[in-house]
Amino acid sequence: MKIKSLSVSKGDFNLQDYNQMYGSFDWTEVEKEFSWFETGKVNVAYEAIDRHADSFRKNKVALYYQDASRNEKYTFKEMKERSNQVANVLKEIGVEKGDRVFIFMPRSPELYFAALGTIKVGAIVGPLFEAFMQAAVKDRLEDSGAKVLITTPDLLQRVPFEELPRLQHIFLVGENIQEEGIYLDFNRRIQQAGKKFDIEWVDRQDGLILHYTSGSTGKPKGVLHVHNAMLQHYQTAKWVLDLKEDDIYWCTADPGWVTGTSYGIFGPWLMGASNVIIGGRFSPESWYQAIEDYGVTVWYSAPTAFRMLMSAGDELIKRYDLSTLRHMASVGEPLNPEVVHWGIKVFNNRIHDTWWMTETGAQLICNYPCMEIKPGSMGKPLPGIVAAIVDNNGDVLPPYRMGNLAIRKGWPSMMSEIWNNHEKYESCFLKDEWYVSGDSAYMDEDGYFWFQGRVDDVIMTSGERVGPFEVESKLVEHTAVAEAGVIGKPDPVRGEIIKAFIALREGYTASDELIEEIRQFVKKGLAAHAAPREIEFRDKLPKTRSGKIMRRVLKAWELNLPVGDLSTMED
Ligand code: WTA
Repeated sequence: MKIKSLSVSKGDFNLQDYNQMYGSFDWTEVEKEFSWFETGKVNVAYEAIDRHADSFRKNKVALYYQDASRNEKYTFKEMKERSNQVANVLKEIGVEKGDRVFIFMPRSPELYFAALGTIKVGAIVGPLFEAFMQAAVKDRLEDSGAKVLITTPDLLQRVPFEELPRLQHIFLVGENIQEEGIYLDFNRRIQQAGKKFDIEWVDRQDGLILHYTSGSTGKPKGVLHVHNAMLQHYQTAKWVLDLKEDDIYWCTADPGWVTGTSYGIFGPWLMGASNVIIGGRFSPESWYQAIEDYGVTVWYSAPTAFRMLMSAGDELIKRYDLSTLRHMASVGEPLNPEVVHWGIKVFNNRIHDTWWMTETGAQLICNYPCMEIKPGSMGKPLPGIVAAIVDNNGDVLPPYRMGNLAIRKGWPSMMSEIWNNHEKYESCFLKDEWYVSGDSAYMDEDGYFWFQGRVDDVIMTSGERVGPFEVESKLVEHTAVAEAGVIGKPDPVRGEIIKAFIALREGYTASDELIEEIRQFVKKGLAAHAAPREIEFRDKLPKTRSGKIMRRVLKAWELNLPVGDLSTMED
């Protein structure tokens, strides 16, 4: 079934353009949109903020910020000044091009000033979810060799700075901060800093941002993106998010996740759009209220959020004026056809699914405003992007054959490295031609791609990517746990929930108290979203002869599916 455009504007990007550019768009065309095309001086923060601050947009609101205690707005001119102040402060303490500056705090205007200021000195931003506990924070700061951390007094107890010899300064964002040792008062220093700053110009291939993300084995990996990614952030904001001069845009993602930076910072501000940021917790009421209050026109969110709104009921929606919404898009997990139909019914809008990943840096396979939507499909590749289904040798498969979703190497926002792990980086490519996503999918005869699942064991729960290995490692740290195997179990609202199978040590017996204790242990040690919602005890877990937990067997048990080939399983 195909769904045609309803009330959505068809945009400047029409179907004829798309078909003409399909597979052949020349990305150097986009270079002309940036000021460095003429000046040769490159820095994303300049293009996203200063360029507008120095133009007719200077008094346009760049950032609307709201949470339970704050309600503020900043023009492009103010954003320029604030980020300059951060840059001055960072420079003063010796931050240089290529240094890693990590930001570990809940959403707030300061988070955005800090990220932009970091980029202005040519340093690499490392955003961290506020939900991370000590072990997760330490892994990331250690692996990246972070020199500076910007955080809040509340989160400080999760930063084991004595164990991080390369961490030189910690900025605390809050009131009444006592400067002492490595601790610095962020707000006071910013207020006292100059509002002018000479931006550090960089090379297009210089590091911009480092996002840690989970795989199925090993610790989280640091995915590095470079300034050149701006070409694709800009162009997709135009083609896929359909951003125009008067749009009020809201991306619901936290900057700890790539969506919250690529499309919460770069995309919208490169386009000169007004960007709404809502802090605090999710509630259907506050979300609908935000759309009404700001008159949001373009909304980018995730299937889990849409499903939660859907389950809050349609009566609630009638209490708000949501008529400003013109364009809606989704990312992170499969977007159920049911949700698309609901969107049409209650918002009179199609929700456009978009597919991409941390490693790809920006959207790659999408539903465009100018195109028919097939509910349940991720859409079609961006012009200039070659997507294919390949087998395990990297050979392209015909339509309707299921296989590895792969992208021809070399798009502008492709990750440039995995931090400290070039081998892992290389292993993401087949035949030196295809980036292999780890997702399985097929393509239909119209060139639409259909997601089938992850090839590996990575879990997507409420849109968050969780590596089973990380959770298993934390579980076995608990004194009662001998072995643990973790899988994603399908769930109607969260996509998947985390389920752990546990074999207990001698002397421990299963009980509800123990389940709760183990769950809290992961919650406090790793992160709330990584804690198993379900725990089941087993005498023994299925393992290969080399001792690897066979998660696919656990999954088959859970779902009552055939267990498949067991030839590698130990007796
Ligand atoms: C999944 C998110 C189905 C997929 C920006 C991918 C999706 C992983 C979709 C990346 C979609 C993302 N339909 N699945 N539209 N979008 N995924 O790195 O499995 O957190 O590999 O980045 O999310 O997750 P990540």
